[in-house]
Amino acid sequence: MEIFIGSDHAGYEMKKNIKEYLQGKDFKVTDLGSFSGEESVDYPDLTREVAEKVLEYPGSFGIMICGTGQGSAMAANRFKKIRAALCDSEFLAEMARAHNHANILCLGARVIKNDLAIKIVDKFLNTKPDKDQRHKRRVEKIDKNVG
Ligand code: RB5
Repeated sequence: MEIFIGSDHAGYEMKKNIKEYLQGKDFKVTDLGSFSGEESVDYPDLTREVAEKVLEYPGSFGIMICGTGQGSAMAANRFKKIRAALCDSEFLAEMARAHNHANILCLGARVIKNDLAIKIVDKFLNTKPDKDQRHKRRVEKIDKNVG
């Protein structure tokens, strides 16, 4: 499974921790930056990097971490075919994958602690999309709603 991970300065330390965890589990992880927790960077720039890679490599997943995760989710969801989910619980991660077929997970490093972040990442990556027609239909309607 291929994972593209990114963060702004606020999410840098959490990104490092998640990356190490996933590499220990043999995931193929590409870190798109930022590469410092000191230098202030703009989350839409890193989010774009992650979203573009997820679209380029079908079947891959993105993980984007900023202070709240909110800005990253907003920025990622501007991309057609990206379904980014801001999750602060394992339940949200499970539903985001099962019902909404999310392909990018957004996390807030100023909202949750590292151990919960790891549990959320695990749940997100280990939950398969529910193939039930009603979920598929609803997910397809998301793209049709682009204004
Ligand atoms: C950066 O200070 C902060 O605004 C950013 O990390 C994020 O929380 C935005 O949604």
